[in-house]
Amino acid sequence: MCGIVGYTGKRNVIDVLMTGLVSLEYRGYDSAGIAINNDGEIKVYKAIGKLGNLKTLLEEKKSEITNVKSGIGHIRWATHGGATEFNAHPHTCTCGKLVVVHNGIIENFKELKEVLTKEGCVFRSQTDTETIAHLFAREYGKTHNLKEAVKNGLKELKGAYAICVMHKDEPDTIVATRKNAPLLIGLGEGENFIASDIPAFIEYTKKAIYLDDGDIAVVKADGLEFYNEKDEKITKKIEQLPWEPVALSKMGYKHFMLKEIHEQPDVIRNVLNGKLFDIDEPIVLNEVQIDNETLKKLNRIEIIACGTSLHAAMVGKYIIEDFTGIAVDVEPSSEYIYRKTVTNEKTLVIGVSQSGETADTITAIRQAKEKGAHVLIITNRPDSSMARYADSLIPVSAGIEISVAATKSYTAQLLSFYLLAIKMAEIKNSMPKEYLKTLKHELIQVPVKLEEILNNKEEIKKCARKFANYKNFIFIARGINLATALEGALKLKEISYINATGYAAGELKHGPIAMLDETMPVLSILIPGGITYDKILSNSEEAKARNARLIALTSSEDEHLYDIFENVIKIPPIPEILSPITANVPCQLLAYYISEFLGKDVDQPRNLAKSVTVE
Ligand code: AGP
Repeated sequence: MCGIVGYTGKRNVIDVLMTGLVSLEYRGYDSAGIAINNDGEIKVYKAIGKLGNLKTLLEEKKSEITNVKSGIGHIRWATHGGATEFNAHPHTCTCGKLVVVHNGIIENFKELKEVLTKEGCVFRSQTDTETIAHLFAREYGKTHNLKEAVKNGLKELKGAYAICVMHKDEPDTIVATRKNAPLLIGLGEGENFIASDIPAFIEYTKKAIYLDDGDIAVVKADGLEFYNEKDEKITKKIEQLPWEPVALSKMGYKHFMLKEIHEQPDVIRNVLNGKLFDIDEPIVLNEVQIDNETLKKLNRIEIIACGTSLHAAMVGKYIIEDFTGIAVDVEPSSEYIYRKTVTNEKTLVIGVSQSGETADTITAIRQAKEKGAHVLIITNRPDSSMARYADSLIPVSAGIEISVAATKSYTAQLLSFYLLAIKMAEIKNSMPKEYLKTLKHELIQVPVKLEEILNNKEEIKKCARKFANYKNFIFIARGINLATALEGALKLKEISYINATGYAAGELKHGPIAMLDETMPVLSILIPGGITYDKILSNSEEAKARNARLIALTSSEDEHLYDIFENVIKIPPIPEILSPITANVPCQLLAYYISEFLGKDVDQPRNLAKSVTVE
C-alpha cells in the first residue's frame, strides 16, 4: 500500500527521495509526491499515476529548486478520497509551513476536521491525513517546537499511522512517529533516512533503527533523538539489516514475478537449511516454543491469514490434522475478527503472513492473544509488526518478494507448515518414524523437482497462449490440492483479471457445472497414487461431456489422459501429501504467461497492494 521515505543530509535530496519511492513502488500505489525544505520554504510536488509523472513534474520545476537539505516523499494507495492530485501526499497546513506524509488511517478524522475547520483551518483534500497537518500546525503555534507539536498532536489522533513531518522553520529536521504501521530510520554518516520499508534506503546503509509504537524520532543529518510514549528520551538498538541491494534487481528476468518463481528451488533449500539436517534427526525450529506439554494441553488449532497465505494455511490444516490428530480450523482473518471465536489458553493460533503487516491478521492475532492463546507467526518478515506478537515464530526465509503476486513466499510458507507438522508429530509421537523419514527425504528432493518444472515450461506457455483470451477459467482439485486450485485461480485473477475460480472437484456438479461449455477452460489437478485421482478424473470427464476445454496438471504417465485432456502439463512424481509444493509452480507460470501475453502490468496489477495495511 502506501510508502514513506524521508531524507536529510548531503546528497541530492530529490534523487534520494525518488530512488526510495521507486523501490517502494512494488507495494502498489496510484499517486505520489514529495515535499522539500528549499532555502527555508516548504515546496510540495505531486502527481497522479506512476512515478514517471512526478519525475517529469520535477524536471519542469527544476529551476525553482535551489538549496535542499531535507525532504519527505510518499506513494499513495487511495483510501479516503480518489486518486487525485489534491488527495496525494504530502499534505500541508493552511499556511503551508508544516507538511506531513502518512501511512495508515486516522479513525477520528471527521470529528477532528470539524473542530479544526471551526478553528479556521482550510481543508483542500478529502483525506484523513490532511487533519494531521492542521492538528500539528495548531500545536506548533503553541510551542514553536516540531517534536513538541507532534507529541501534543498525537494525543488527539486515533487510528494507525506512520508519519513524517517537516516545518519550514526547522529546515534540517524531520520528526517521525508510528503506531501500528511500520517505520524505520536508516543511519548514515552525516545523513539519515526514514522509510516505511527497508528497500527505500538499503542501497545507502544497512544500519537501521526500528521505531516502536508511540516512539517519536527527531531526525537531523548529524543527529538522532528518540522519545517513548511517556516522552522519556530513550536509546534504541541499532540493527544490521540482512539484505543486499541486489535482491531488489530483476537479475535479467523481464519481471520480478518471473525471477521470484525461478528462485523457488533455492528458497526451499534456504528454508530447509538449519531446520532439516538429516532424515534421522528431528526437525529444528529454534523459535517455536511448543513442547509435548503444550501439545497435550491443546484442544484445537486456529490458523488465520488472508489471500495466498490463507491457501498455505489450508494445506497447513490438512497436514497438521493428518500428522497429529489435533483439530485445526482455518479462517480468513477478516472474518475471524468479527465473531465470538472459541479461543482460549488451550488454543494454538497460527498467523500466516508474507508481509507481517496485514491489518486484518494483526487485529486477529491481537484478539487471540488477549484470549490467552499461544500465538505462532509464520512470516517472511521477522522484523514485522506481526512478529512482535509472536510467542513462537517461523521465519520463512524467502527473501524479499517484490512482485505483488505472492509466489516464492507461498512456497516457503508451505515448507514451513510441513516442517511444523512433522515437528509436532515427532513431539507427539503420532506418526510412524519411518513415514516421517520418507517425508523428510522427499522434502530434500523437492528443489530438484522444481528445477525440472522450471526447465520444461513449453507446455505451460502453449496453454497460456491458447487460453489467454478466454474470459473465465476454472481450477478443480480434491483434498490437499483444493488449496492449489484456489491459489492457481487467485494468481490468474490477480495478474490477468480473468474471472478464474477454484472449486473442490466434487462440488462442480452442485452448481458450477451450469457454466461449462466450449468457452470454459477447466484445469484439473491430478496426482496419482493418492486417494483423489480417480474421482477427479471422473469429474473431468463430466466437464468434458459439457464441452469444457480440459487441461490436466499431473505427474501421471497414463497415455489415456491425452484422450480426455487437450493439454497435459507434467510435473515430476511426488507423494500426494507433498504435491501442493510442486503442483502450484505450473499454476504460477500459467498465470504469469497469460498476463504477459495480455500485456498486463505483471508486477503491479491494478488496484492491488503488496501489503494490505487497512482492515
Ligand atoms: C497474493 O498474491 C496477494 N497479493 C494477497 O492475496 C496476499 O496474499 C494477501 O494480501 C495477504 O498478505 P500477507 O501474506 O502479506 O498477509
